[in-house]
Amino acid sequence: MKKLIAGNWKMNGSMENALNLAKDVVAGIQENTQLLENNDFLVCPPALHLAPVRTELTSAVSLGGQDCSPFDKGAYTGDVSAAMLNDMKCDYVILGHSERRQYYCESNMLIKQKAEMALEQGLKAIICVGETEGEREEGREQEVVGQQLLESLPEGASADTIVIAYEPVWAIGTGKVATTDDIAAMHAYIRAQLKSNAKDGDKVRILYGGSVKPTNAAEIFAVEDVNGALIGGASLQAHDFLGIAQAG
Ligand code: PGA
Repeated sequence: MKKLIAGNWKMNGSMENALNLAKDVVAGIQENTQLLENNDFLVCPPALHLAPVRTELTSAVSLGGQDCSPFDKGAYTGDVSAAMLNDMKCDYVILGHSERRQYYCESNMLIKQKAEMALEQGLKAIICVGETEGEREEGREQEVVGQQLLESLPEGASADTIVIAYEPVWAIGTGKVATTDDIAAMHAYIRAQLKSNAKDGDKVRILYGGSVKPTNAAEIFAVEDVNGALIGGASLQAHDFLGIAQAG
């Protein structure tokens, strides 16, 4: 299966930065179309930048939201609905990122509701899971990730509708990366759970995320059941973002 190279731009940059970044990503792929043989590309800009960024993208790069509402429409001030993302020609939406779980107290149940809205609109839900450093020290990482996964999976979860991103919380934006043994163990565990709980679970993409860079991507991508990466910091420079795909 092709790897999914997904950039999570988070709440960074001006409109001008976003347009330039999108242009640079598209130009970099055009200069090296070989990258498309093994990789699919996705960028997830801030919601306000989706429409302008879309005008810069070609079919080589998909567009995604960073979150969506658990409600379909109406009086939910500040929310962006899955239908609105669909209207902006998004193909994906990131859900349950650890920053949302941590700063907005998002529960597995809420993430499941959001994922169901996403699926109703034909968006692929990238459901993020991952343990904290303390949970890993206590040896509870599989228990935590397993519960997040099973409680967040929407009805209709399948290889066509969902992607899982395993992101150990302590590795996000910190420069710390899980060892390849730890990544292998967790991805194998997630794969086993998906096989019993999602349609075509053996084909659901499982991304790794947490301080992925061009310098560590090759060893991460060599791990069994790593089907791409969810990239924060390094996705803000086209050169690094594409360098990660190149490394794989
Ligand atoms: P990072 O972020 O690459 O900056 O660690 C990853 C993410 O939060 O998805």
